[in-house]
Amino acid sequence: MINDYKIAVIGCGNLGLSIVHGLLADKNVKAENITATRRNVQALKHLADAGVTTTSDNLEAIKSAELIVLGLKPYKIMDVLKDLAPHFDSSKHILVSLATGVHIADIQRIVGEDIPVYRAMPNTAADVETSMTCVCGNKDSARDLQVVLDCFSAVGDTIVIDESLMDSATVLGACGIAYVLRFIRAMIQGGIEIGFDAKTASHIATQTVKGAAELLIQRNQHPEYEIDKVTTPRGCTIAGLNEMEHNGFSSALIKDEGHPTVDIKALLQQYPVLGICYGAQLACHQYGGVVAASDKREYGRAGLHVTRDDLFHSVEEASQVWMSHGDTIKNIPDEMTIIAHTDNIPVAAYKMNSEPHPFYGIQFHPE
Ligand SMILES: NC(=O)c1ccc[n+]([C@@H]2O[C@H](COP(=O)([O-])OP(=O)(O)OC[C@H]3O[C@@H](n4cnc5c(N)ncnc54)[C@H](OP(=O)(O)O)[C@@H]3O)[C@@H](O)[C@H]2O)c1
Repeated sequence: MINDYKIAVIGCGNLGLSIVHGLLADKNVKAENITATRRNVQALKHLADAGVTTTSDNLEAIKSAELIVLGLKPYKIMDVLKDLAPHFDSSKHILVSLATGVHIADIQRIVGEDIPVYRAMPNTAADVETSMTCVCGNKDSARDLQVVLDCFSAVGDTIVIDESLMDSATVLGACGIAYVLRFIRAMIQGGIEIGFDAKTASHIATQTVKGAAELLIQRNQHPEYEIDKVTTPRGCTIAGLNEMEHNGFSSALIKDEGHPTVDIKALLQQYPVLGICYGAQLACHQYGGVVAASDKREYGRAGLHVTRDDLFHSVEEASQVWMSHGDTIKNIPDEMTIIAHTDNIPVAAYKMNSEPHPFYGIQFHPE
């Protein structure tokens, strides 16, 4: 379907360019169907050489386009949309905004309710057709949604999410690229310290990270399952993992200002909720409890002691569970009740009898 569509990318900077590069690499997409804009059109010369129409005239670009991808910065997008609004045609145009934090309702206030408006949160791996793109939209039209998904499928994987999760998608998927790159950089520096030249260390680190991701993607496994396979008792892998946790590796990601989050109170209005590991810590934190770096080893097997409760009705009093966390729940709020502990941690599981639905939090990994 996307091969027949005329696509305009308005504001072709880092991300817009990544998307155009990805589209150009897709054999189904013709370069002559793509128009790319920015004010400094000289910076798009390589696209023009590849057959893409390049211009600084946004109005001209949307006239011939059907799918319009807005790659502008959040502080720019409204001004550009105000200029273009009178020229949008609801029978022809589909808008997709990449702008972080700009809601569909904000865009609709300018372009009107009739225009199909979508938000997409890709990442810069679109440049190498490996983006993770989260999409949400204001219309029920399956056809429009399919066009948007087809466009971003050309540059990687896509999922449809609720708009309320778009900020979380930004942190996990878009900022996530930087977190992983910093991790790789640290691996390379470690590799150099133990004897490799930078090029070899980089080769080993990047292929290792790629391999770890492929293991999870292709086998559909939980990370701990694969970690367990490479941790021998008293071995160097478990020593390294524990050292990472003692230095706050997981907790740095969880406590980051932009940590992945969901509105648990809102979820509980609709469903009973089970929070596992980070989910249990997040709920505790949101209700005023204390989550902090653990000073005891909490990686590996642990003996769980349960209080009789509906969640554990078929679980024996002393059961073995798997723990893997650097942070731990130090204090739970008054409305929560502890329903399990281990020898190392007092809050291995808790319950909150919230209305209309209860919340259960468990720090171990039943999955
Ligand atoms: N970078 C990421 O990883 C990422 C991930 C997800 C979402 N986002 C979102 O994607 C959007 C773009 O981010 P970015 O990093 O790609 O920003 P960027 O590199 O600054 O790209 C924005 C481009 O817009 C162009 N522009 C500015 N005013 C314009 C106008 N009036 N008409 C046409 N083009 C104009 C600029 O080029 P000229 O100055 O030459 O016009 C610039 O190249 C942002 O809203 C961001 O929140 C980014």
